[in-house]
Order: sequence, then C-alpha cells, then structure tokens
Amino acid sequence: MKVAVVGATGMVGEVLLKVLAERNFPITELLLVASERSVGKKMPFKGKEHTVIGLADAVAAKPNIAIFSAGGDTSLEWAPKFAEVGTTVVDNSSAWRMDPTKKLVVPEINAHELTAQDKIIANPNCSTIQLVMALYPLHKKYKMKRVIVSTYQSVSGTGVKAVKQLENEIAGIQGEMAYPYPIGRNALPHCDVFLENGYTKEEMKLAREPQKILDDRTFSISATAVRIPTAGGHSESVNVEFENDFELNEVRKLLNEMPGVTVQDNPDTNTYPMPIYAHDKDEVFVGRIRRDETQRNTLNMWIVADNLRKGAATNAVQISEYLVEKGLV
Ligand SMILES: NC(=O)c1ccc[n+]([C@@H]2O[C@H](COP(=O)([O-])OP(=O)(O)OC[C@H]3O[C@@H](n4cnc5c(N)ncnc54)[C@H](OP(=O)(O)O)[C@@H]3O)[C@@H](O)[C@H]2O)c1
Repeated sequence: MKVAVVGATGMVGEVLLKVLAERNFPITELLLVASERSVGKKMPFKGKEHTVIGLADAVAAKPNIAIFSAGGDTSLEWAPKFAEVGTTVVDNSSAWRMDPTKKLVVPEINAHELTAQDKIIANPNCSTIQLVMALYPLHKKYKMKRVIVSTYQSVSGTGVKAVKQLENEIAGIQGEMAYPYPIGRNALPHCDVFLENGYTKEEMKLAREPQKILDDRTFSISATAVRIPTAGGHSESVNVEFENDFELNEVRKLLNEMPGVTVQDNPDTNTYPMPIYAHDKDEVFVGRIRRDETQRNTLNMWIVADNLRKGAATNAVQISEYLVEKGLV
C-alpha cells in the first residue's frame, strides 16, 4: 500500500503515524504531507527519516490511501483531486460527513456499508465516535428516543495551537491564543463556531452525525459542548431515554460485549473513566452507569475516550484496515 498522511505534522497526524506503526499497517511507501510551511521538514516513521511533501506532489504520486487530518478547507479542495487519480481518501475533517453521497463510518458499527466505489470516506467527529460506540449496543436492544449529552472536551481536540495555549498559561508565558479566553482554570461552553440557531457547530455534529452512522432518524440528540483544560481525552455526561425498560446489569453486559468498549464502573472502589487513564488508549471507557430516577426507561452514564486515538487516528486506521482486508483499495 502506498499511503499518504495529509496533515502529518499536526496533532492527529502525529498520532496517526504512531497508530499506523503500532498496528503494522501494510505500508510499502509512506508519503508525509503538510502545508507549504512544512515542506522539506524531516519526520521519522519506524526508524526511517521521511521528508514532508506538498499536496500536489502527493496527488502526482497516486497513493492507494490518503488519510486526511488537515482541516475542512484542505479536504474540500484536495480530497476530490486524490479521488480523481484513484486514491481512497479517509477524511478526519467535518467537510464531507453530512454529504449524503459520502459514508460516515465507525468500523465497529457500519464498516459493512463500504464499497470500492467509496473514494472519499468520512471519519466522524471525535466526540461523536465515543458517544455512538456506547449508544449503539443499547439502541439495538432498548431503542433510543432521546439523548442529552454534555461534553467536557480536551484542548488536544482543537489542535497544536490550543495545547500550546494551555502550556503557555501554565508556564506564565504570554503567547498566541487558540481560544477567545484563557483555558487554564476555566471552562468554555464554546467548541467550534457558533451557528445561527445558538448552538455551536460541535453541538450540531453531536446531534446529527449519530443519526447518519446508525442510519436511524427516529431518535433525537441535544448537546452542550464544553472545552476544559485537560489533555488526555474527551468526557461526556450522557442521559438516554429508551422506548423499552432495561436492567442495569444487562446494560453493563451489553456495553462490555461491544468491541472497543470497556466498562469501568464500581463506586465502591472509586472506579470510573477519566481522561488521564484513557489517554493513549484505543478503547472507549464507560462508567457511572445508573438509572435516572426522575424518568421512566432512562439511563445516565459517563463516557471517556482519547479524542486523538479512537476519536480520530485509530478510527481512520481501522477504516483503512477494513478497506485493505476486503480488497476495496
Ligand atoms: N484534534 C482532534 O481531536 C481531532 C479529532 C478528530 C478530527 N480532527 C480533525 O483533524 C484535522 C486536524 O486536526 P489537528 O488537531 O491535528 O490540527 P493541527 O494540530 O492544527 O494540525 C493541522 C495539520 O494540517 C496541516 N495543514 C494545515 N493547512 C494545510 C494546508 N493548506 N495544506 C496542507 N496541510 C495543511 C498542518 O500542516 P502544517 O504543520 O504545515 O501547518 C498540520 O499538519 C482537523 O480537520 C480536525 O477537525 C481533529
């Protein structure tokens, strides 16, 4: 496989290279691609130096797969150019996710929808992926009616500039700001841009993407997305109302049986998911599983995952692995 990593110098790009190496993805030639600012820069992969190239050179090299993590504008402009030369693009940005002609894929849930004709495949938003990983097995069994989710999102979800802002604030250095306010010792109810309906774009991604992934518009999701000064992963407080009643033990069993999900739930030992432990792991962790005592058939839970791994890089590599395994590239 000739593989291009577009946005190789970024937060997600760096983790992608790590995940590709760890999982021994069958690469015969690796193209590291970034903006003109980084062209010529040297980066290691599996002990070998690679030189960063520009997008036009990468298209000319006609890779089999290009994994994009370089922002929506880059994807909108360049993914079709790769697709035209026969490359299959797996895109981490929000550019193609809600395009009805593109698949939005979490491999454990809907990889079977992919065909060789899918030349641009969308990776869902990081906070969506961890949410649907936990909702999917429960929805199959009890049928969701309504979900209310509040997120506690890591600065790593905004990219290199935001992690630097937090580090600068901790070190007392005046530097470039990724957010309109300080993020250290703060909580910003503002992830991505505000839309006309008063929600942020991140909140609307959480409301819409799960319906597309689960191919079901009969449930609704209402979201509040908050940025907090953590680095290891995103956390989510989730309230789900089902059509049918459930047993808590069965809920735990269904979650544990879901590939990629691990239940960490024991109040007696203070066991619950946290970003410091989810950091650098591929699993989605679920805990604080309890009945909402104010309403019938309603569950509360707490979901944590590393937004750079399952929320981005790992999910994109899993899609790529599926394409290779099924001979779709
Ligand atoms: N962080 C997350 O948790 C997360 C999760 C899911 C999806 N995503 C998505 O993944 C993408 C990257 O996010 P990130 O957090 O990794 O951002 P980041 O740290 O800011 O990195 C951005 C990357 O894109 C490259 N890039 C920027 N403009 C480019 C251009 N015009 N042409 C070619 N390359 C360009 C940058 O190259 P230079 O170094 O040369 O500037 C860098 O490699 C975004 O679309 C984001 O929405 C992020």
